[in-house]
Amino acid sequence: MAKIETIGILTSGGDAPGMNAAIRAVTRAAISNDWKVYGIYRGWEGLINDEVKLFTTESVSNIIQRGGTILKTARSDAFRTPEGRAVAAKTLKKYKIDALVVIGGNGSLSGAEELAHEHDIPVIGIPGTIDNDLYGTDSTIGYDTALNTIVECVDKIRDTACSHNRIFFVEVMGRDAGFLAQNSAIAAGAEAAIIPEDKTDIDQLATFIGHGIRKSKNSSIVIVSEKDGGAMHYADRVRKEYPEYDVRVSILGHLQRGGKPSAFDRILASRMGVAAIEALKEGQRNVMIAIDQDQMRYIPIAKAVKIDKPIDPELLTVQNTLSI
Ligand code: F6P
Repeated sequence: MAKIETIGILTSGGDAPGMNAAIRAVTRAAISNDWKVYGIYRGWEGLINDEVKLFTTESVSNIIQRGGTILKTARSDAFRTPEGRAVAAKTLKKYKIDALVVIGGNGSLSGAEELAHEHDIPVIGIPGTIDNDLYGTDSTIGYDTALNTIVECVDKIRDTACSHNRIFFVEVMGRDAGFLAQNSAIAAGAEAAIIPEDKTDIDQLATFIGHGIRKSKNSSIVIVSEKDGGAMHYADRVRKEYPEYDVRVSILGHLQRGGKPSAFDRILASRMGVAAIEALKEGQRNVMIAIDQDQMRYIPIAKAVKIDKPIDPELLTVQNTLSI
């Protein structure tokens, strides 16, 4: 592989708390290796439109504690086309960028893979998404913070749910994955979690109504993944099928993506950022940095984005055991 002297870094897709800590780590680890670092703004869109700036160590000062991403982000339709990716590759050439570090989720890393193959550019992925849906890593950057945000919100919802004897369906993000829903339900002591991974034919709502509500409980909280109609769908069903219950819906929405990153996410992002530079030094390309049982690993990006990450069935058992 050609010697690396200059790298580009970008964040893409949905922002996640801890992305700034990762930008800082990648930038500083590269500079301490005497490499040049270009910050690419607004993800793939910015690469296509030449929104590129030379970074120094000062460019990433005072950001480790900030949510969002100082590099901004975007969801780019243009980059989904070979023509768009060709323009992006031209920008990389213009700045003599030898390798690219991409911080993002499933879609962003898939895009990175395509660019790498079509234009022979070494790419390292860092998993940054609140959804925690990338295979091979125990946690993605932003997931822990979002989980804690959800739990804080659900604790508050419980106060009002109890006061009014109501069932609350609380909808959380996660796209196609139920990690946020399942683990926030356990952490907040919710009566049930409805997640897309539960593929049994069992009607999850009927199970909850039959199992989760007992006489001594005058209120309930059900955490619902946003997929397949989300909380509204289940609330409408209860109104029709079990009209004796007083039901409310709370959709947490984008507040789940904001806020200061937790200490866990800052450490994870710092470790992964340093590891991304180490990976490039070792000649790795087209891999995602992963931490699996506290061991740093490189997972081929193609694998990380294509293989479904399973939910540990033990979590479902814990939920069912404790929600009696
Ligand atoms: O992938 C992160 C995520 O927050 C998902 O949980 C959610 O489905 C989606 O992004 C929302 O996207 P947007 O911010 O573009 O509405």
